[in-house]
Amino acid sequence: MVRVIGIVSAKGGVGKTTVTANLGAALASKFGRNVVAVDCNLTTSHLGLYLGVYSPLYTLNNVLRNEVSLQQAICEHASGLKIIPASLGINDLYNIDTNNLRKKLKNTFSQMDVILLDSSPGLGREALITLQTSEELIFVTTPHIAPIVDITKTRQLANQMHKKSIGIVLNRVKNQRYELTAKEIEQLTNLPVIAKIPEDENALKSTNSKVPLVSMSPKCLASRAFFKLAADLVGEKYYPKLGLVDRIVNMFKRNTLKRNNRAGTHVPRFAVSGSSHTLR
Ligand SMILES: Nc1ncnc2c1ncn2[C@@H]1O[C@H](COP(=O)(O)OP(=O)(O)OP(=O)(O)O)[C@@H](O)[C@H]1O
Ligand SMILES: [Mg+2]
Repeated sequence: MVRVIGIVSAKGGVGKTTVTANLGAALASKFGRNVVAVDCNLTTSHLGLYLGVYSPLYTLNNVLRNEVSLQQAICEHASGLKIIPASLGINDLYNIDTNNLRKKLKNTFSQMDVILLDSSPGLGREALITLQTSEELIFVTTPHIAPIVDITKTRQLANQMHKKSIGIVLNRVKNQRYELTAKEIEQLTNLPVIAKIPEDENALKSTNSKVPLVSMSPKCLASRAFFKLAADLVGEKYYPKLGLVDRIVNMFKRNTLKRNNRAGTHVPRFAVSGSSHTLR
């Protein structure tokens, strides 16, 4: 049975599209799953751009106007990931009907394993498309208080809609002392942190090169975290095989992160339970 998983966060720019592209590419290329990633961010769509799909013949917007079928809007990526891009044109925002999107997706992709929905930020009408269409949700955040407060709001909405919350992907982790830890985030949100993706310059390079990080630099720490997330999501095992040089490079990066941590200024931690700061 195909799973429909929304990649969500009310805060913008925390890494939803990066997670969608890399999780999708990891599932397809490393674990042989049939995955389609759908750009549900209709006003500021980036998924196609991140994966090198610039001028698709048809987009989700055409599908939502009942002009073409979902099959006709599929673009294939070299990783094996299928993409339904959204339009980059402002005029394509009119006359779209998002009702029944889940039914359409599940009917069209019934033979696939996973449908990933890349959400727009916010909690307005556009973000609701992903929340309504998904059956399960992965929340994305950076280790800072504002996006985490926004996650608690999104979670409340998701609970009202009876969606299953899988957990949180903690992205752009620099291991600085001012960052909230995974444990603190779990206590604040009552959700498990299912992956920690380090801050990695390669992520920015991959966005600009239109190649997912897991394809461009499969051995870097961030890619390994994406592979582990993908494995856990579908119940596979992941044991990275690294040569000596890669192990030394990764050790060097880890030590740099640790040094940053030691050099960071101390800030008071958030009280996470039994206090007025509790967000649960
Ligand atoms: N782990 C990371 N390390 C470094 N840069 C990252 C990482 N993850 C994402 N980025 C960068 O952060 C920026 C925002 O990422 P992304 O577009 O995925 O966020 P988003 O949540 O989808 O944004 P929006 O809410 O606008 O849709 C991009 O430039 C991306 O390359
Ligand atoms: Mg995005």
